[in-house]
Amino acid sequence: MIPIIAIDGPTASGKGTVAQAVAKELGFHYLDSGALYRIVGLASQQANVEFSQHQQLGKMCLGLQIEFVGNQVFLNQKDVTEAIRTEEMGHRASSVGAIPAVREALFSLQKGFLKEPGLVADGRDMGSVIFPEAQLKVFLTATPQIRAQRRYKQLIAKGISANIDILTQDLVERDLRDTQRETAPLVQSEDAFLLDTSNKTIEAAVQQIIVWYQSVK
Ligand code: C5P
Repeated sequence: MIPIIAIDGPTASGKGTVAQAVAKELGFHYLDSGALYRIVGLASQQANVEFSQHQQLGKMCLGLQIEFVGNQVFLNQKDVTEAIRTEEMGHRASSVGAIPAVREALFSLQKGFLKEPGLVADGRDMGSVIFPEAQLKVFLTATPQIRAQRRYKQLIAKGISANIDILTQDLVERDLRDTQRETAPLVQSEDAFLLDTSNKTIEAAVQQIIVWYQSVK
């Protein structure tokens, strides 16, 4: 069986950075499932499809040509790496992510990332819905205040102005929508290890996951 490490958790918890580093250390492939929902958010805006048009959004997803090349993301052969990282696309991703037809359309696409020698999958429902068979499931989180501070630093470093109070409020809103939606809500699976990174460095979080993985594989 091809090994899978599923890392789920709320927005701006540091999942992406940690999951990528774990994948690199183990030589595994990496799935950034959030990027797929962000792409759907962008594509629906470009195609002028409203969030209320569930079936049309599902159909649209099936026709999207998505490619990950290193750290770059391509949608229909166009580089959308930067375009999908905005706060607006984060919100649009969270809105389309609540639609069952969209989640269904992205199911097989996500399954397709599972290849030898292994996969680190990062998202909200990796351990609960997409890869319930994962050898290791981690629920990675941090307090909303710490997450807002991390997002703030990221934005400022990119030269984007930001307000810490608005960011905190945005995170809390997005958490609420992600945890309370009916389809594949963000939950900590019973069999997931909890990793609170509020007072941990990225390196410490990565090493903890590697230690857990060595103990279960
Ligand atoms: O992880 P990221 O912040 O890029 O995800 C953006 C949004 O996409 C999340 O807030 C969530 O609503 C949605 N998402 C999801 N299921 C996943 C990954 C992301 O619903 N597996």
